[in-house]
Amino acid sequence: MTNAMNASSSSNSSSSSNSLHQTFSRSTIANSLAGKSVVTLDDISTAQIRMLLDKARYIDSHRKEVAHTCDGRVLATLFYEPSTRTRLSFETAMLRLGGKVIGFAGAQLSSASKGETVNDTLKVVSNYVDVVAMRHPKEGAAFVATQAVSTPIINAGDGGHMHPTQTLADLATILARFGRLNNLTVGLCGDLTYGRTVHSLIETLCRFGNVHFVLISPDELKTPQYVIDRINDTPSCTYEETRDLMEVIGNLDVLYMTRVQEERFTDREQYLRLRDTYILTEEKLQKAKLHMPVLHPLPRINEIAVDVDDDPRAAYFEQVKNGMLMRMALESSVLGDELCGYEPTDFVNVPEDELQAVDVHGISLADSRVHVTDVNAPENLTCPNPRCITNSELTLKRKFYKADSVRHEYRCMYCDEESESK
Ligand code: NCD
Repeated sequence: MTNAMNASSSSNSSSSSNSLHQTFSRSTIANSLAGKSVVTLDDISTAQIRMLLDKARYIDSHRKEVAHTCDGRVLATLFYEPSTRTRLSFETAMLRLGGKVIGFAGAQLSSASKGETVNDTLKVVSNYVDVVAMRHPKEGAAFVATQAVSTPIINAGDGGHMHPTQTLADLATILARFGRLNNLTVGLCGDLTYGRTVHSLIETLCRFGNVHFVLISPDELKTPQYVIDRINDTPSCTYEETRDLMEVIGNLDVLYMTRVQEERFTDREQYLRLRDTYILTEEKLQKAKLHMPVLHPLPRINEIAVDVDDDPRAAYFEQVKNGMLMRMALESSVLGDELCGYEPTDFVNVPEDELQAVDVHGISLADSRVHVTDVNAPENLTCPNPRCITNSELTLKRKFYKADSVRHEYRCMYCDEESESK
């Protein structure tokens, strides 16, 4: 997956980093997020994800104690695309920690409308603030930001690619319902092609292991290859693809519904044809397990009927609250600001099997994963993804990493799409 090759990212290799983990004290793990950017959750270790989940729980019950954690700090929210909850959630999180917020909501209100690049905007804004949350319609935009400045960048969604803080909200919700993030059958339903929340969630659940993914979508909206490869690369995880929600709903521990992402379609007819494929109703839920939470990153259009809202399995408004708490945990952590009175619980101790788990290439699943630009990649490679930022900001240097040393397959560093030769 895409990963920040920014100054603050730590590099890793499987075996040496595992032993490093064991010698880390808890506070070192917490502090090690200071200064870090999060383009994808691959940028941080599972120990750090656990720490964020643990902190969020603490924050929820100690709102007053943490209210001055980020006094004097300023967050910029640079939202080039529409958002309600994500932007307000990032902003509320900072306000509740005592910090302040600047920013814009909508590219038309920023210098992007005059043609300014992401690089230049970030070089300007980083003079004003301590941390940036950024949402952009182009895939790889947050990665570009991390290359431009050393201020921590939090990806609030880059096109149809990744949405790591939504995944933090999703993990907190799954954890609250099950007490675990593994040994689950997780159904993901709807727009699996453009649904960035789905991509982030799958790559992260793979790291916790033992998940069977049931990928439910029309043929036109199937999961991208780089996400499928991630499941294939994870020995303890499996998947099946189906178009029929009702055929599989009874097998699921978790159902993650998504909106068909209208704004990513180039073919309006296709969108209109696909948008009503799945509509979850209370009647359909009768076939599901009694404790199967229904998640949705929101906004919903019509893929979950309102009669489901009163069902105890509806977890989507819980996700919203968890999103704010997780963003409080993340913002304070990347700023290196300690939460008053917080003591890590046992949950942050990574179990031995999680610590030892490796993918089929021998790469640690517990540690952060940083792709390295292959300087020997053939010069004629291009990224075929029209939504990739390298195809709109043409001054950006194209970068590729080797995804598969056997097949010599290269992927775009910005959006993970398989490269093409000119
Ligand atoms: C999601 C997003 O923006 O990707 N929303 C959110 O952040 N909560 C999902 C969506 O827009 O469908």
